[in-house]
Amino acid sequence: MSVPILPSEIDISSPEAYLDEARIQAEFSRLRNEMPVTWVDREPYRPFWAVVRNADIKLIEKNHEIFINEPRLTLQTRKAEAASAKMFGGRRYGIRTILDMDEPDHRKYREISSRWFVGSGLRKLLDRVDTIAGRFVDKMAAQGGECDFAAEVAMWYPLHVILSLLGLPEEDAPHLLRLTQNLLAASDPDLQRSDLGGTDVIPEFLEYLGRLLAEKRAHPGDDLASAIATAEVDGKPMDALEAMSYYLIMVTAGHDTTSGSISGGMHALIQNPAEREKLRSPSPELLRNASGEICRWVSPVKHFMRTATADFALHDATIRAGDSVALFYVSGNRDETCFDDPFAFRVDRKVEGHLAFGFGIHSCVGRQLALAEMDAFFGKLIPRLRHVEFGGDPKLIQSNIMGGYKSLPIHYELTH
Ligand code: HEM
Repeated sequence: MSVPILPSEIDISSPEAYLDEARIQAEFSRLRNEMPVTWVDREPYRPFWAVVRNADIKLIEKNHEIFINEPRLTLQTRKAEAASAKMFGGRRYGIRTILDMDEPDHRKYREISSRWFVGSGLRKLLDRVDTIAGRFVDKMAAQGGECDFAAEVAMWYPLHVILSLLGLPEEDAPHLLRLTQNLLAASDPDLQRSDLGGTDVIPEFLEYLGRLLAEKRAHPGDDLASAIATAEVDGKPMDALEAMSYYLIMVTAGHDTTSGSISGGMHALIQNPAEREKLRSPSPELLRNASGEICRWVSPVKHFMRTATADFALHDATIRAGDSVALFYVSGNRDETCFDDPFAFRVDRKVEGHLAFGFGIHSCVGRQLALAEMDAFFGKLIPRLRHVEFGGDPKLIQSNIMGGYKSLPIHYELTH
């Protein structure tokens, strides 16, 4: 079997490519139609297979015994991988989050937090989400019709929700925002600390999280950070590095993605006034569907990776044991065989099957919370929004992993 190789004019790996959304999406469309599984060997990354169709991504995720998360979870430059290996040894950033784990550990550790995000655990959170959403909409009203929606609203609202969930003080928000951006937006020249892929942020992050762990172990409360601090796995307390890793994934995955969805959602609602109009007095079902459509549309998580542990045939390719596979959720969310007219933003479309939250055993544990945050925010904002338009050029985060706007100036009129 010949190996389908990505033509050199198509670039889906570089962070810069994601700044031109129309172009990158056109490239993914071409790949979905012509080369659904391709071998990408392009510096500064180690080679990998690109999987771009919705159904193929789901197939790989269903086969999680073959396609495991450890050790290569995202595209990192060779330089960043070398820095991580030098500083921390074999493990990605020297940490072990539930995203890095495979079965059986993954299931045991995931259970510790999953109950906080469903049923009565989630219901307990919703009042707080509603209050915090209301605060940010009121802040916009008080601001007098002009703001940088990404930098002043969308980046902060989900961060305050996650602080409340973890039981952290609100004054820590700026510090945590900076650390998260330095780590997850490490390829953006405005947000990175260096060109080492965020590796150099880890010691400072762990120092903060280590203090948090010590405090929650000494004085546990009714919050997720205490539940993690006091949890046992196989009858033993969780190892300190694993508990800090747990905090790290909750803090980072829990707000950047939701912020990206909210700012991207606002962008789409400005560009599509008829869709905005449908949300003027929405039913809870329509609002929830709109939040799902925003996640599909924005796809803040561009890709995650897996490593094959056995040979696997997919279309014309044979993925060999040891090969890396990148699952491009951003492409699966525009798959024309899955969505009717996928390049149209429609708040009332059938949105099931999208991949914004991943799929299978690692699919997002915070999905219901994220959707509830979006429902609460847009459900309060849109009915009061008389007018909204762009107030300057929007700026996307330069990243092939975690997208969203870093700046979205808007002008608006809100009723009181
Ligand atoms: C719109 C917002 C969000 C999006 C788009 C999103 C996206 C994702 C995606 C794509 C994955 C799967 C990663 C993979 O394939 O390996 C994931 C996993 C995860 N997410 Fe989210 N996420 C969001 C919000 C949240 C929130 C609010 C939390 C927590 C408060 C959270 C915590 C996690 C965790 C802990 C995992 C790892 C799950 C596991 O490995 O079992 N996320 N998320």
